[in-house]
Amino acid sequence: MGDLRVLGICGSLRKASTNLGLLRYALQHAPDGMSVTIADLAEVPFYNADIVDKPAAVVRLLEDVEQADALLLACPEYNYSLAPALKNALDWVSRAPENCLLSGKPTAILGAGGGMGSARSQYHLRQVAVFLNLHLLNKPELFCSAFDGSFDEHGDLINEKIQAQVVTQLQALQDWVLRLR
Ligand SMILES: Cc1cc2nc3c(=O)[nH]c(=O)nc-3n(C[C@H](O)[C@H](O)[C@H](O)COP(=O)(O)O)c2cc1C
Repeated sequence: MGDLRVLGICGSLRKASTNLGLLRYALQHAPDGMSVTIADLAEVPFYNADIVDKPAAVVRLLEDVEQADALLLACPEYNYSLAPALKNALDWVSRAPENCLLSGKPTAILGAGGGMGSARSQYHLRQVAVFLNLHLLNKPELFCSAFDGSFDEHGDLINEKIQAQVVTQLQALQDWVLRLR
């Protein structure tokens, strides 16, 4: 059996995003037996049922999710909730027949935000995940501050404690996928 394929999806589109930094760290430090890639949402338009011919960026997103054994959702907090880019990506993917691309997919959530480290948005995302029937990893949770020096100016994660938490969460996700099989 090949590596477990994890697809990271980030709710922030900016280049120096700290949430993207979390996913980049995961990509670079995935445990043995796991590979992490990151979805490109830059060209994904707002979901609109009138768009019959899916844009290339949407087709690629659907293919990436289909090929993934698990998802890793990086969840910034915007006005106490999840960022629209992440919700929009999930909305597009959820329109596959019978929600076949998301239903039952093992998924972990992490995030960087303001005062509560994106906790409020992560719990909103967990509510969304119930309807999508994502199989969420409950623990360990990962909340961190985007503003306390844990990330450098490029959004790279430089806080060793959080670096270790990312790796621990990936290991738990690996165990979770194997347990669900
Ligand atoms: C529109 C907007 C609303 C925000 N609202 C909140 C909020 O309610 N709570 C919070 O902790 N941070 C809030 N923030 C700060 C974001 O959580 C912070 O910018 C986050 O780290 C962005 O992630 P990024 O570094 O990945 O871009 C907000 C930022 C934006 C742009």
